Amino acid sequence: MKSVRSDWATALLVCRKCSKRLGGGFGPKGRTPLAKALRKELGVGKGRKGKFGVVEVKCLGVCPRGGVTIVDGANPGEWKIVPARHNIEEIVSALRLRG
Ligand code: FES
Repeated sequence: MKSVRSDWATALLVCRKCSKRLGGGFGPKGRTPLAKALRKELGVGKGRKGKFGVVEVKCLGVCPRGGVTIVDGANPGEWKIVPARHNIEEIVSALRLRG
């Protein structure tokens, strides 16, 4: 099996359907999807060269009202529900993505 290196310290799985149901739900106007807002805040792109991976995935089966389900690959035993319009900086520090 071949392998490909990546610089990711972890991969965040963000439910795309939750974001869609909120019409985005984040950012100044509440129209930015969580994955996009997180990528912007963390300064990472979509590829494997960033410090973190932020990957939108299909419905995770939790389907919270007014929030988005995310799974941190480094802590997969505890999924998080991020309330809509929650401050992105606070989300990043709650997930301990910065030193
Ligand atoms: S819609 Fe997001 S977990 Fe189901």
